[in-house]
Amino acid sequence: MIIAIDGPSGAGKSTVAEAVARKLGFSCLDTGAMYRAIAWKALEEGVSLEDDQALGDLARSSEIQFYHEAGEPLPKGVAIDGVDVTKAIRTAEIDKAVSPVSAAPSVREALVDQQRRIGATGDYVIEGRDIGTVVFPNAELKIFLTASDEERAHRRVRQNVDRGLGSMDYEEVLADLRRRDAYDSSRATSPLKAADDALLLDSTGAYIEEVIDKICALALDLERKGD
Ligand code: DC
Repeated sequence: MIIAIDGPSGAGKSTVAEAVARKLGFSCLDTGAMYRAIAWKALEEGVSLEDDQALGDLARSSEIQFYHEAGEPLPKGVAIDGVDVTKAIRTAEIDKAVSPVSAAPSVREALVDQQRRIGATGDYVIEGRDIGTVVFPNAELKIFLTASDEERAHRRVRQNVDRGLGSMDYEEVLADLRRRDAYDSSRATSPLKAADDALLLDSTGAYIEEVIDKICALALDLERKGD
C-alpha cells in the first residue's frame, strides 16, 4: 500500500509520515530530502540553478541513498554519492536553493522515476508535494496536510533547535516559508496542490497524535476491505 502525504513545508508531514510508518510497519520516504540533496550537490559543484539541463544531468548521475541503523526500519539519514548530507541539507542556504532545483522539469523527471521505483518495493508512506497528484496518482490513501503559516514557522524554528542546528529568526523563517509556498504552488511543473481525491487534514492546534491515529485507522480500514 502507498500512503501519500502532501502539503506545504512545516505542516508536520515528516513527523506524521514517520509515526504512521512506524505504527503500520511501513517504510517511509522523504522526497523533499531528495530535492535537497540535489540542491546541495548543485551548490557544491557550482552548477547554475537556472540550467535545467545541467541540473537534470546532475540528478540522473547522482546516487541518493537513505541509510538505516541496524535493526531500525526507518532511515536515519541521507547520503548523495557516498557523502552524508543529513544535516547539510537543512540549512537556510539549501532552503533557498531547493526551490529552483525542484522546479526544474528534468530534475523532477529523474527523481520521480527513482521515487516510483522505491515505492514499488513495498508498503510505503511517502511525503512530498506531488505524491498523490503525479508520483503515485493511484495511491490507496492520499492525505493533504496543512497548518497555519504562523504555526508552521514556529515548528520549523523548534525543529531546527531539536536537530541541533541552532536557532533561526522566526520572522525570517515565516517570510521564507511563504515565499517557498508561493513558488511551489505556482511553478509550471507539478505545482503543490491537493489531489481531488485527497483527504484534507489541518494540523493547526490539533494534537499531532490525532492526525497520526486518523491516518492509521483509515489505512487499516482500507487493508481490511482489500483482504
Ligand atoms: O519538504 P521539504 O521542505 O524538505 O522540501 C524541499 C523542497 O522540495 C520544497 O521547496 C518543495 C520541494 N519538493 C517538491 O517540489 N516535490 C516533492 N515531492 C518534495 C519536495
